[in-house]
Amino acid sequence: MLIKDIQNEILRLKKEKDICILAHSYQAREIVEIADCVGDSYKLSVDASKTDNENILFCGVHFMAETAKMLSPDKHVYLANPGVGCPMAEQMEPEIIEAVKRSDPDRKVVAYINTTAKLKAVCDVCVTSSSAVKIVSAMKENKLLFIPDCNLGAFVQKAVPDKDIKLLQGGCPVHAAVDPDEVRAAKAAHPNALVLVHPECRPSVTEQADYVGSTSGIMDFAKKSDAKEFIIGTEMSIAEHLQYECPDKKFYILSKKILCPNMKMTTLMDVYNSCVGIGSGGAYEIIMSPEEIASARVCIDEMLRLGG
Ligand code: 13P
Ligand code: SF4
Repeated sequence: MLIKDIQNEILRLKKEKDICILAHSYQAREIVEIADCVGDSYKLSVDASKTDNENILFCGVHFMAETAKMLSPDKHVYLANPGVGCPMAEQMEPEIIEAVKRSDPDRKVVAYINTTAKLKAVCDVCVTSSSAVKIVSAMKENKLLFIPDCNLGAFVQKAVPDKDIKLLQGGCPVHAAVDPDEVRAAKAAHPNALVLVHPECRPSVTEQADYVGSTSGIMDFAKKSDAKEFIIGTEMSIAEHLQYECPDKKFYILSKKILCPNMKMTTLMDVYNSCVGIGSGGAYEIIMSPEEIASARVCIDEMLRLGG
């Protein structure tokens, strides 16, 4: 079967079984093309809460599908490839946060959305990379602990200097792998290009950038800018998606290391097989108890309240 034939069959099954496909922007082109909603973590969590389809099929990593389930507990939420997790989301155990809270009870805990539901359950508010500065600024408390990404946390610290924000050592192994020398080399190779970087990269990388923002922020910036060349410092699929959308501009990858193997594990055939399996027990459904949902949702609801 050709890619186009598989895509057409997915579109047919989607209609027949009332499936909404949500795809993170780091997914492959052929998946993005058949998705109902594409975006960064914040956009997808809002989209998940608004859809009225009976079934949601998530193409991304486990914590994203879990978040979609928490926002749509009455719907069936599936993950297209059951084996796909995010290493950052698994980095911290709730006991670490509980110990900090015991020693410093006034400190509110801000959790990046890239965390498990059991970790979210002991945190006060969630943020995504596109909403972190806005939400932290909007919080009335000044003493905060930001987990797990110390690079995103450092970016927030710099943007909201009047707050006392404590960090723990954690982060995205993919973005953190970018070296500041790679930025200098990319600039030397493409002197007319603007450097657009994700805040999950190290401060030594972000401080050399022309723009620092979430996946959607980077895409919007590149599309609206009058500049013609860009060095993209986030998962390399973004450079490819932008090249399709802006054929008159040029996009270069900042580093060959920014490839998320987890995001690349979902294939178009996984999406097709999940669509076939939905309704007959052949797809991987996210199952959470009402108690698990209730305890982790508090900080997601707080994010939606403060994020607008
Ligand atoms: P955003 O989607 O919030 O930009 O985060 C990037 C990421 O690493 C997702 O896993
Ligand atoms: Fe996790 Fe980083 Fe991959 Fe995003 S890019 S899914 S944060 S490992």
